[in-house]
Amino acid sequence: MSLKRVTLIHGRLYRDGDPAEALWQIEPDGAVVMDDGVITRVGPSRHVMRQETDLGTVIDVDGRAVIPGLIDCHTHVPFAGWRVDEYEARLRGQSYEAIARKKGGIVRSARQWQEATDAEILAMARRLAQEALLWGTTAMEMKSGYGLSVDQELRALRLIRRLAAELPQHISATGLFFHAVPPETAPDDWIRTVREVLLPAALAEGLVSAVDAFIERTAFSVTAVAQAFEALPASLPIRLHTNQFSRQGGIELAVRLSARAVDHLEYLEPDEIEILARHGIAAVLMPGAAFYTRQPYAPARALLDRGVRVALATDLNPGTSPIGNLPTVMAMAVNAMAMSPDEALAGVTRQAAYVLGIQDTHGSIEPGRRGDLVVLDADTVAMIPYRLGHNPVDRVIVGGRPVTP
Ligand code: NIG
Ligand code: FE
Repeated sequence: MSLKRVTLIHGRLYRDGDPAEALWQIEPDGAVVMDDGVITRVGPSRHVMRQETDLGTVIDVDGRAVIPGLIDCHTHVPFAGWRVDEYEARLRGQSYEAIARKKGGIVRSARQWQEATDAEILAMARRLAQEALLWGTTAMEMKSGYGLSVDQELRALRLIRRLAAELPQHISATGLFFHAVPPETAPDDWIRTVREVLLPAALAEGLVSAVDAFIERTAFSVTAVAQAFEALPASLPIRLHTNQFSRQGGIELAVRLSARAVDHLEYLEPDEIEILARHGIAAVLMPGAAFYTRQPYAPARALLDRGVRVALATDLNPGTSPIGNLPTVMAMAVNAMAMSPDEALAGVTRQAAYVLGIQDTHGSIEPGRRGDLVVLDADTVAMIPYRLGHNPVDRVIVGGRPVTP
Protein backbone atom coordinates (compact mmCIF):
# COMPACT_ATOMS: atom_id res chain seq x y z
CA MET A 1 0.00 0.00 0.00
CA SER A 2 1.13 3.52 -0.77
CA LEU A 3 1.93 5.33 2.45
CA LYS A 4 1.71 8.76 0.93
CA ARG A 5 -1.82 8.50 -0.44
CA VAL A 6 -4.47 10.73 1.10
CA THR A 7 -8.08 10.68 -0.10
CA LEU A 8 -10.64 13.30 0.76
CA ILE A 9 -14.24 12.04 0.45
CA HIS A 10 -17.75 13.50 0.58
CA GLY A 11 -16.73 17.05 -0.25
CA ARG A 12 -18.74 19.63 -2.17
CA LEU A 13 -15.93 20.31 -4.62
CA TYR A 14 -15.37 23.61 -6.43
CA ARG A 15 -13.81 22.53 -9.74
CA ASP A 16 -12.92 24.73 -12.70
CA GLY A 17 -16.01 25.25 -14.84
CA ASP A 18 -16.30 25.51 -18.60
CA PRO A 19 -15.23 29.16 -19.08
CA ALA A 20 -18.13 29.86 -21.43
CA GLU A 21 -20.70 28.74 -18.85
CA ALA A 22 -19.74 29.07 -15.22
CA LEU A 23 -16.68 29.93 -13.20
CA TRP A 24 -17.11 26.85 -11.04
CA GLN A 25 -18.51 23.42 -11.61
CA ILE A 26 -19.76 21.87 -8.40
CA GLU A 27 -19.16 18.19 -7.73
CA PRO A 28 -21.82 17.72 -5.04
CA ASP A 29 -20.35 14.62 -3.39
CA GLY A 30 -16.78 14.43 -4.59
CA ALA A 31 -13.54 12.72 -3.71
CA VAL A 32 -9.95 13.87 -4.29
CA VAL A 33 -7.11 11.37 -4.35
CA MET A 34 -3.62 12.74 -3.65
CA ASP A 35 -0.40 10.78 -4.11
CA ASP A 36 2.88 12.16 -2.85
CA GLY A 37 1.34 15.59 -2.53
CA VAL A 38 -0.17 15.75 -6.03
CA ILE A 39 -3.82 15.34 -7.02
CA THR A 40 -4.14 12.17 -9.08
CA ARG A 41 -7.88 11.66 -9.30
CA VAL A 42 -11.03 13.73 -8.80
CA GLY A 43 -14.57 12.39 -9.15
CA PRO A 44 -17.81 11.41 -7.46
CA SER A 45 -17.12 9.79 -4.09
CA ARG A 46 -19.07 6.66 -4.95
CA HIS A 47 -16.98 5.98 -8.08
CA VAL A 48 -13.66 6.68 -6.44
CA MET A 49 -14.50 4.61 -3.37
CA ARG A 50 -15.68 1.68 -5.47
CA GLN A 51 -12.83 1.69 -7.98
CA GLU A 52 -9.77 2.50 -5.85
CA THR A 53 -8.62 -0.52 -3.85
CA ASP A 54 -6.47 1.58 -1.53
CA LEU A 55 -7.61 5.03 -0.46
CA GLY A 56 -4.66 5.60 1.90
CA THR A 57 -5.49 8.01 4.71
CA VAL A 58 -9.16 8.94 4.38
CA ILE A 59 -10.51 12.36 5.28
CA ASP A 60 -14.31 12.43 5.34
CA VAL A 61 -15.48 16.05 5.14
CA ASP A 62 -19.17 15.28 5.41
CA GLY A 63 -20.60 17.55 2.72
CA ARG A 64 -18.48 20.61 3.45
CA ALA A 65 -17.31 22.86 0.61
CA VAL A 66 -13.81 22.07 -0.66
CA ILE A 67 -12.02 24.82 -2.56
CA PRO A 68 -8.52 25.06 -4.06
CA GLY A 69 -5.87 26.24 -1.61
CA LEU A 70 -5.87 30.04 -1.54
CA ILE A 71 -3.04 31.93 -3.25
CA ASP A 72 -1.91 35.33 -1.98
CA CYS A 73 -0.21 36.78 -5.06
CA HIS A 74 0.87 40.11 -3.51
CA THR A 75 2.41 40.47 -0.06
CA HIS A 76 5.28 42.52 1.33
CA VAL A 77 6.43 39.80 3.71
CA PRO A 78 9.13 39.77 5.05
CA PHE A 79 9.16 43.05 6.96
CA ALA A 80 10.62 43.96 10.30
CA GLY A 81 7.83 45.36 12.43
CA TRP A 82 4.54 47.20 12.32
CA ARG A 83 3.90 50.95 12.03
CA VAL A 84 0.86 51.35 14.24
CA ASP A 85 1.87 54.88 15.23
CA GLU A 86 1.63 55.96 11.58
CA TYR A 87 -1.76 54.34 11.43
CA GLU A 88 -2.78 56.44 14.44
CA ALA A 89 -1.39 59.57 12.76
CA ARG A 90 -3.54 58.79 9.74
CA LEU A 91 -6.55 58.38 12.01
CA ARG A 92 -5.83 61.94 13.17
CA GLY A 93 -5.93 63.13 9.58
CA GLN A 94 -2.43 62.87 8.14
CA SER A 95 -2.20 61.32 4.68
CA TYR A 96 -0.12 58.27 3.75
CA GLU A 97 1.76 60.37 1.21
CA ALA A 98 2.48 63.15 3.72
CA ILE A 99 3.90 60.59 6.17
CA ALA A 100 6.04 59.14 3.37
CA ARG A 101 7.43 62.60 2.57
CA LYS A 102 8.46 63.03 6.20
CA LYS A 103 10.68 59.90 6.04
CA GLY A 104 8.03 57.68 7.52
CA GLY A 105 6.39 54.95 5.50
CA ILE A 106 8.56 52.67 3.41
CA VAL A 107 11.78 54.49 4.35
CA ARG A 108 10.93 53.98 8.01
CA SER A 109 10.36 50.25 7.42
CA ALA A 110 13.75 50.18 5.69
CA ARG A 111 15.36 51.53 8.87
CA GLN A 112 13.56 48.90 10.96
CA TRP A 113 14.74 46.29 8.45
CA GLN A 114 18.39 47.28 8.74
CA GLU A 115 18.25 47.17 12.52
CA ALA A 116 16.58 43.76 12.71
CA THR A 117 18.52 40.50 12.83
CA ASP A 118 17.88 37.69 10.36
CA ALA A 119 16.41 35.64 13.21
CA GLU A 120 13.91 38.39 14.07
CA ILE A 121 12.84 38.85 10.46
CA LEU A 122 12.45 35.12 9.89
CA ALA A 123 10.47 34.68 13.11
CA MET A 124 8.01 37.40 12.13
CA ALA A 125 7.60 36.05 8.58
CA ARG A 126 7.00 32.53 9.91
CA ARG A 127 4.28 33.79 12.23
CA LEU A 128 2.56 35.64 9.40
CA ALA A 129 2.78 32.64 7.07
CA GLN A 130 1.41 30.33 9.77
CA GLU A 131 -1.48 32.67 10.46
CA ALA A 132 -2.23 32.86 6.73
CA LEU A 133 -2.09 29.06 6.48
CA LEU A 134 -4.73 28.68 9.16
CA TRP A 135 -6.94 30.99 7.07
CA GLY A 136 -6.37 28.89 3.95
CA THR A 137 -3.32 30.41 2.20
CA THR A 138 -1.37 27.51 0.69
CA ALA A 139 0.81 29.59 -1.66
CA MET A 140 2.02 33.14 -1.34
CA GLU A 141 4.23 35.70 -2.96
CA MET A 142 6.91 37.37 -0.87
CA LYS A 143 8.64 40.55 -2.02
CA SER A 144 11.84 42.31 -1.17
CA GLY A 145 11.47 46.09 -1.11
CA TYR A 146 12.38 47.28 2.38
CA GLY A 147 16.11 46.85 1.77
CA LEU A 148 16.66 50.00 -0.32
CA SER A 149 20.29 49.05 -0.95
CA VAL A 150 21.96 46.31 -2.98
CA ASP A 151 23.11 44.37 0.08
CA GLN A 152 19.85 44.64 1.98
CA GLU A 153 17.71 43.77 -1.05
CA LEU A 154 19.81 40.67 -1.68
CA ARG A 155 19.55 39.86 2.03
CA ALA A 156 15.74 40.06 1.76
CA LEU A 157 15.69 37.72 -1.22
CA ARG A 158 18.01 35.24 0.48
CA LEU A 159 15.77 35.24 3.56
CA ILE A 160 12.77 34.59 1.29
CA ARG A 161 14.67 31.66 -0.21
CA ARG A 162 15.18 30.26 3.31
CA LEU A 163 11.51 30.71 4.12
CA ALA A 164 10.55 28.99 0.86
CA ALA A 165 12.65 26.00 1.85
CA GLU A 166 11.08 25.58 5.27
CA LEU A 167 7.45 26.75 5.05
CA PRO A 168 4.70 24.32 4.02
CA GLN A 169 3.36 26.85 1.52
CA HIS A 170 4.70 27.40 -1.98
CA ILE A 171 6.55 30.75 -1.94
CA SER A 172 7.14 32.91 -5.05
CA ALA A 173 9.89 35.51 -4.71
CA THR A 174 9.55 38.96 -6.30
CA GLY A 175 12.28 41.58 -6.39
CA LEU A 176 10.61 44.92 -5.61
CA PHE A 177 13.68 46.96 -6.42
CA PHE A 178 11.84 50.23 -6.95
CA HIS A 179 9.79 50.77 -3.81
CA ALA A 180 11.05 54.11 -2.48
CA VAL A 181 14.04 56.22 -3.46
CA PRO A 182 16.74 55.33 -0.91
CA PRO A 183 17.48 58.25 1.45
CA GLU A 184 20.40 60.51 0.43
CA THR A 185 20.40 58.95 -3.03
CA ALA A 186 19.65 60.58 -6.36
CA PRO A 187 16.92 58.62 -8.15
CA ASP A 188 19.14 58.29 -11.25
CA ASP A 189 21.95 56.75 -9.21
CA TRP A 190 19.60 54.15 -7.74
CA ILE A 191 18.17 53.32 -11.16
CA ARG A 192 21.67 52.76 -12.49
CA THR A 193 22.64 50.67 -9.47
CA VAL A 194 19.59 48.46 -9.84
CA ARG A 195 20.17 47.99 -13.54
CA GLU A 196 23.89 47.40 -13.40
CA VAL A 197 24.38 45.69 -10.02
CA LEU A 198 21.25 44.52 -8.21
CA LEU A 199 19.28 42.99 -11.07
CA PRO A 200 22.23 41.05 -12.51
CA ALA A 201 23.18 39.78 -9.04
CA ALA A 202 19.63 38.68 -8.19
CA LEU A 203 19.26 36.94 -11.55
CA ALA A 204 22.65 35.25 -11.35
CA GLU A 205 21.78 33.83 -7.93
CA GLY A 206 18.33 32.74 -9.12
CA LEU A 207 16.66 34.71 -6.36
CA VAL A 208 13.64 36.14 -8.17
CA SER A 209 10.79 34.77 -10.21
CA ALA A 210 9.43 38.25 -10.98
CA VAL A 211 10.27 41.93 -10.54
CA ASP A 212 8.11 44.80 -9.37
CA ALA A 213 8.21 48.60 -9.12
CA PHE A 214 6.08 51.25 -7.41
CA ILE A 215 5.03 54.01 -9.78
CA GLU A 216 3.81 57.02 -7.86
CA ARG A 217 4.58 60.67 -7.11
CA THR A 218 6.31 59.63 -3.87
CA ALA A 219 8.11 56.69 -5.51
CA PHE A 220 9.30 56.24 -9.12
CA SER A 221 8.36 57.69 -12.48
CA VAL A 222 7.48 55.65 -15.55
CA THR A 223 10.63 56.92 -17.24
CA ALA A 224 12.82 55.59 -14.44
CA VAL A 225 11.17 52.18 -14.39
CA ALA A 226 11.22 51.94 -18.18
CA GLN A 227 14.97 52.53 -18.21
CA ALA A 228 15.59 49.83 -15.66
CA PHE A 229 13.21 47.15 -16.90
CA GLU A 230 13.43 47.52 -20.67
CA ALA A 231 16.38 45.19 -21.09
CA LEU A 232 15.17 42.37 -18.83
CA PRO A 233 14.98 38.80 -20.13
CA ALA A 234 11.52 38.24 -21.61
CA SER A 235 11.06 35.18 -19.40
CA LEU A 236 11.08 37.30 -16.23
CA PRO A 237 7.54 38.50 -15.43
CA ILE A 238 7.14 42.19 -14.59
CA ARG A 239 4.62 43.47 -12.06
CA LEU A 240 3.87 47.13 -11.36
CA HIS A 241 2.36 48.83 -8.31
CA THR A 242 0.47 51.53 -10.14
CA ASN A 243 -2.53 53.89 -9.98
CA GLN A 244 -2.69 53.57 -6.19
CA PHE A 245 -2.94 57.30 -5.50
CA SER A 246 -2.78 58.89 -8.94
CA ARG A 247 -2.49 58.31 -12.66
CA GLN A 248 1.14 58.43 -13.74
CA GLY A 249 1.17 56.40 -16.97
CA GLY A 250 1.83 53.05 -15.35
CA ILE A 251 -0.77 51.29 -17.48
CA GLU A 252 0.82 52.49 -20.72
CA LEU A 253 4.19 51.44 -19.34
CA ALA A 254 2.82 47.98 -18.52
CA VAL A 255 1.98 47.60 -22.21
CA ARG A 256 5.41 48.79 -23.28
CA LEU A 257 7.09 46.31 -20.92
CA SER A 258 4.61 43.45 -21.62
CA ALA A 259 3.96 43.29 -17.88
CA ARG A 260 2.13 40.27 -16.56
CA ALA A 261 0.06 42.20 -14.02
CA VAL A 262 -0.64 45.66 -12.67
CA ASP A 263 -1.44 45.89 -8.99
CA HIS A 264 -3.61 48.37 -6.96
CA LEU A 265 -5.56 50.42 -9.59
CA GLU A 266 -7.54 52.52 -7.13
CA TYR A 267 -7.27 55.42 -9.60
CA LEU A 268 -8.06 53.82 -12.93
CA GLU A 269 -9.88 55.53 -15.76
CA PRO A 270 -12.08 53.94 -18.44
CA ASP A 271 -9.45 54.26 -21.20
CA GLU A 272 -6.93 52.47 -18.98
CA ILE A 273 -9.38 49.59 -18.41
CA GLU A 274 -9.66 49.37 -22.20
CA ILE A 275 -5.87 49.12 -22.51
CA LEU A 276 -5.66 46.31 -19.96
CA ALA A 277 -8.44 44.40 -21.69
CA ARG A 278 -6.89 44.81 -25.11
CA HIS A 279 -3.44 43.68 -23.99
CA GLY A 280 -4.46 40.84 -21.70
CA ILE A 281 -2.71 42.30 -18.67
CA ALA A 282 -4.01 40.96 -15.36
CA ALA A 283 -5.24 43.25 -12.57
CA VAL A 284 -4.38 42.52 -8.94
CA LEU A 285 -6.80 44.28 -6.63
CA MET A 286 -6.16 44.74 -2.93
CA PRO A 287 -9.19 46.16 -1.14
CA GLY A 288 -7.31 46.08 2.18
CA ALA A 289 -5.01 48.86 0.96
CA ALA A 290 -7.93 50.97 -0.28
CA PHE A 291 -9.75 50.42 3.01
CA TYR A 292 -6.85 51.49 5.22
CA THR A 293 -5.71 54.41 3.08
CA ARG A 294 -9.33 55.51 2.54
CA GLN A 295 -8.96 55.53 -1.20
CA PRO A 296 -11.74 54.53 -3.56
CA TYR A 297 -11.90 50.80 -4.26
CA ALA A 298 -10.49 49.74 -7.61
CA PRO A 299 -13.17 49.39 -10.33
CA ALA A 300 -13.44 45.61 -10.08
CA ARG A 301 -16.83 45.39 -11.75
CA ALA A 302 -15.78 47.42 -14.79
CA LEU A 303 -12.59 45.37 -15.16
CA LEU A 304 -14.43 42.05 -14.93
CA ASP A 305 -17.21 43.17 -17.26
CA ARG A 306 -14.57 44.14 -19.81
CA GLY A 307 -13.04 40.65 -19.53
CA VAL A 308 -9.88 41.58 -17.62
CA ARG A 309 -8.40 38.83 -15.48
CA VAL A 310 -8.90 40.01 -11.87
CA ALA A 311 -6.88 38.55 -9.00
CA LEU A 312 -7.27 39.54 -5.35
CA ALA A 313 -4.51 39.75 -2.77
CA THR A 314 -3.85 41.00 0.76
CA ASP A 315 -0.92 43.38 0.01
CA LEU A 316 0.11 42.42 3.57
CA ASN A 317 2.47 45.20 4.72
CA PRO A 318 2.90 47.45 7.77
CA GLY A 319 1.80 50.64 6.01
CA THR A 320 -1.25 50.32 3.84
CA SER A 321 -2.62 46.85 4.54
CA PRO A 322 -1.95 44.94 7.75
CA ILE A 323 -4.46 42.27 6.65
CA GLY A 324 -2.87 38.86 6.31
CA ASN A 325 -5.67 36.57 5.25
CA LEU A 326 -7.61 36.13 2.03
CA PRO A 327 -11.13 35.37 3.32
CA THR A 328 -11.26 38.94 4.69
CA VAL A 329 -10.13 40.28 1.31
CA MET A 330 -12.77 38.18 -0.45
CA ALA A 331 -15.42 39.59 1.88
CA MET A 332 -14.32 43.14 1.06
CA ALA A 333 -14.28 42.42 -2.67
CA VAL A 334 -17.81 41.06 -2.59
CA ASN A 335 -19.37 43.56 -0.21
CA ALA A 336 -17.56 46.73 -1.31
CA MET A 337 -16.52 46.06 -4.92
CA ALA A 338 -19.54 44.18 -6.26
CA MET A 339 -17.66 41.03 -7.13
CA SER A 340 -19.61 37.79 -6.83
CA PRO A 341 -18.46 35.16 -4.31
CA ASP A 342 -17.51 32.96 -7.28
CA GLU A 343 -15.42 35.74 -8.85
CA ALA A 344 -13.74 36.42 -5.53
CA LEU A 345 -12.85 32.75 -5.21
CA ALA A 346 -11.42 32.72 -8.74
CA GLY A 347 -9.45 35.85 -7.81
CA VAL A 348 -7.62 34.08 -4.99
CA THR A 349 -7.14 30.77 -6.80
CA ARG A 350 -6.76 30.43 -10.58
CA GLN A 351 -6.27 34.14 -11.32
CA ALA A 352 -3.70 34.55 -8.56
CA ALA A 353 -1.95 31.41 -9.83
CA TYR A 354 -1.75 33.01 -13.28
CA VAL A 355 -0.24 36.19 -11.82
CA LEU A 356 2.49 34.13 -10.15
CA GLY A 357 2.96 31.92 -13.22
CA ILE A 358 2.07 28.76 -11.26
CA GLN A 359 -1.21 28.01 -12.99
CA ASP A 360 -0.08 24.59 -14.21
CA THR A 361 0.59 23.35 -10.70
CA HIS A 362 -1.64 25.41 -8.41
CA GLY A 363 -5.04 27.04 -8.18
CA SER A 364 -7.53 24.31 -9.02
CA ILE A 365 -8.74 20.89 -7.94
CA GLU A 366 -7.65 18.90 -10.97
CA PRO A 367 -5.33 15.92 -11.52
CA GLY A 368 -1.72 17.06 -11.84
CA ARG A 369 -2.11 20.03 -9.51
CA ARG A 370 -0.51 20.10 -6.08
CA GLY A 371 -2.71 18.71 -3.32
CA ASP A 372 -3.57 22.09 -1.82
CA LEU A 373 -7.17 22.11 -0.59
CA VAL A 374 -9.20 24.13 1.85
CA VAL A 375 -12.22 22.56 3.54
CA LEU A 376 -14.71 25.20 4.66
CA ASP A 377 -16.87 24.98 7.75
CA ALA A 378 -19.85 25.51 5.43
CA ASP A 379 -21.19 24.04 2.21
CA THR A 380 -20.99 27.20 0.10
CA VAL A 381 -18.34 29.82 -0.66
CA ALA A 382 -20.95 32.57 -0.17
CA MET A 383 -20.53 31.98 3.57
CA ILE A 384 -17.05 33.59 3.31
CA PRO A 385 -18.18 37.13 2.40
CA TYR A 386 -21.36 36.69 4.41
CA ARG A 387 -19.45 36.14 7.67
CA LEU A 388 -16.76 38.84 7.42
CA GLY A 389 -14.23 38.44 10.22
CA HIS A 390 -14.95 34.76 10.78
CA ASN A 391 -12.28 32.22 9.86
CA PRO A 392 -14.21 29.95 7.47
CA VAL A 393 -11.57 27.21 7.42
CA ASP A 394 -12.39 23.79 8.83
CA ARG A 395 -9.09 22.31 7.71
CA VAL A 396 -6.27 22.89 5.26
CA ILE A 397 -4.48 20.30 3.18
CA VAL A 398 -1.17 21.50 1.81
CA GLY A 399 0.99 19.40 -0.50
CA GLY A 400 -1.32 16.45 0.19
CA ARG A 401 -0.81 16.73 3.93
CA PRO A 402 -3.58 17.68 6.34
CA VAL A 403 -2.68 20.63 8.53
CA THR A 404 -4.36 20.45 11.88
CA PRO A 405 -4.91 23.85 13.50
O1 NIG B 1 1.50 48.07 -1.80
N1 NIG B 1 2.51 51.04 -2.47
C1 NIG B 1 3.59 50.67 -2.11
N2 NIG B 1 3.86 49.64 -1.32
C2 NIG B 1 2.98 49.11 -0.35
C3 NIG B 1 3.03 49.88 0.92
C4 NIG B 1 4.29 49.65 1.64
C5 NIG B 1 4.38 50.34 2.97
O2 NIG B 1 3.70 51.34 3.24
O3 NIG B 1 5.21 49.84 3.76
C6 NIG B 1 1.60 48.93 -0.93
O4 NIG B 1 0.62 49.59 -0.56
FE1 FE C 1 2.04 46.26 -2.43
